[in-house]
Amino acid sequence: MYKVAFLPGDGIGQDLKEVVKLFRDKIEEKYGFSFELNELPIGGKAIDSFGDPLPPDTLKECKKSDAVFLIAVGGPKWDNNPPNLRPEAGLLKLRKSLNVFCNIRPIKLSKHLTHLSCLKCETVDKGLDIIILRELTEGLYFGEPRGIYTQPDGSKVAINTMSYSSTTIEKFAKIGFDLAMSRKKSLTSVDKANVLENSRLWREVVENLSKSYPEVKLDHLYVDNAALQMIYNPNQFDVIITENLFGDILSDEAAALVGSLGLLPSASIGDNKPFLYEPVHGSAPSIAGKNMANPIATIFSIALMLRLSFERNDIAFDLENAVEKTLEMGIGTADLKMKNTIGTREFANEVLKNL
Ligand code: NAI
Ligand code: MG
Repeated sequence: MYKVAFLPGDGIGQDLKEVVKLFRDKIEEKYGFSFELNELPIGGKAIDSFGDPLPPDTLKECKKSDAVFLIAVGGPKWDNNPPNLRPEAGLLKLRKSLNVFCNIRPIKLSKHLTHLSCLKCETVDKGLDIIILRELTEGLYFGEPRGIYTQPDGSKVAINTMSYSSTTIEKFAKIGFDLAMSRKKSLTSVDKANVLENSRLWREVVENLSKSYPEVKLDHLYVDNAALQMIYNPNQFDVIITENLFGDILSDEAAALVGSLGLLPSASIGDNKPFLYEPVHGSAPSIAGKNMANPIATIFSIALMLRLSFERNDIAFDLENAVEKTLEMGIGTADLKMKNTIGTREFANEVLKNL
C-alpha cells in the first residue's frame, strides 16, 4: 500500500483535512485502491507544539513516503515571529529538501464557472485547461554571485545572477514534452532569447530535445508576448514550459484568469519520489473553521497525486469529471458565486455522490 505523508497545516488546512480522508475512503471502496494517510505536523501548529515549523520527524517521514500531500500553512498568530520561526519557513525547507525541480500548475476553469474569470465570458466560453511548468531550482533565485555591494565611490550595486545548466533544462523540458504527449501534443517554451544568454541555451536544449518528440508541435515565445497572449487568448496554449522567474509571474497571471484560488492545484516533482502535492491557495484565516473553504483545489491535487505518483490516471479522470458534474448542478462554495451556495463538507459530499 502506498504511504502518503499528510500535512494539513493551519487555517482551512484543518477544514479540508476531512475532505482528503473522505476521498481516500471512497477511492478505496470504489476502486479497491488504497493509500495510507500519515498525518504529520508542519507550519504554525508545529511551531506551537515543537518550536519548529518543520520538525525533523516530519521531514524524515516525508522522505520515507511515496508522496507528500500538504494543504496550507500560516496565519496571523505567527506573523510577527522571527523568519526561522514562521510557518512558511517550514514549507520552503520541505520543498528544498525534497529537491522537486518542476512545479506543475494546471490552470483549469470549468465552462460552468466562466463568470468568475477576469476575462470576458466569450474569451473563456469553453472554460480553460492549460498547464504551466515552472523550473524551481535554478535561475535568478539561486544563481551566484548575489548580494548588495558598496563600490569605492560609496554608491551601492546589487547583483543577482541568472544561471542555468543544460542538464537541468533538459530534464525539466523532458517532463514538458512527456506531458504534451499525454495531452494535445502542443508545447510552448517561454524565454527571452532576444536578450538573455540563459534563454539562448534554453532554446538550444529544448530544440535538440524536440527531435526525440517529432509528434509534439513546439513553439517558442518571448515572455513579454506570452504574458500578452495569456490575456488575449489563453486557450491557444496547452502545456507551457518556462524558467523560474518567468514561471512565477506567468502562473500568478494565469491564476487570475480562473478567478478563485480555491480551484487551483499543484504538483512539484523531481528525479526521485516523493513528489509534493498542494493546493495553490494559503490558509485563508478569515474563512477558517467556518465550513466555507472550496475543496476543489484539494480534490484536483488528489487527482494529480493519483496520476503522477500512483499511475492511476483513470481515478484522477473520474475525480475531475465528478467535480465538473457537480458544478453543472449549479452548486458551489461561496467563492464560486453560483446559484446555490453550500458548505465545504456538503460540496465534497456532492462530488463523492457524482463519482
Ligand atoms: P490565501 O490563499 O490564504 O487567501 C487569499 C484569498 O483567497 C482570501 O480571500 C481567501 O479567503 C481566498 N481563498 C483561498 N483559498 C480558498 C479556498 N480554498 N476557498 C475559498 N476561498 C479561498 O492567501 P493570503 O490571504 O495571502 O494568506 C493567508 C495565509 O496563508 C498567510 O499566513 C500566508 O502566509 C499563508 N499562505 C500559505 C501558502 C501555502 O501554504 N502554500 C500560500 C499562500 C499563503
Ligand atoms: Mg508567486
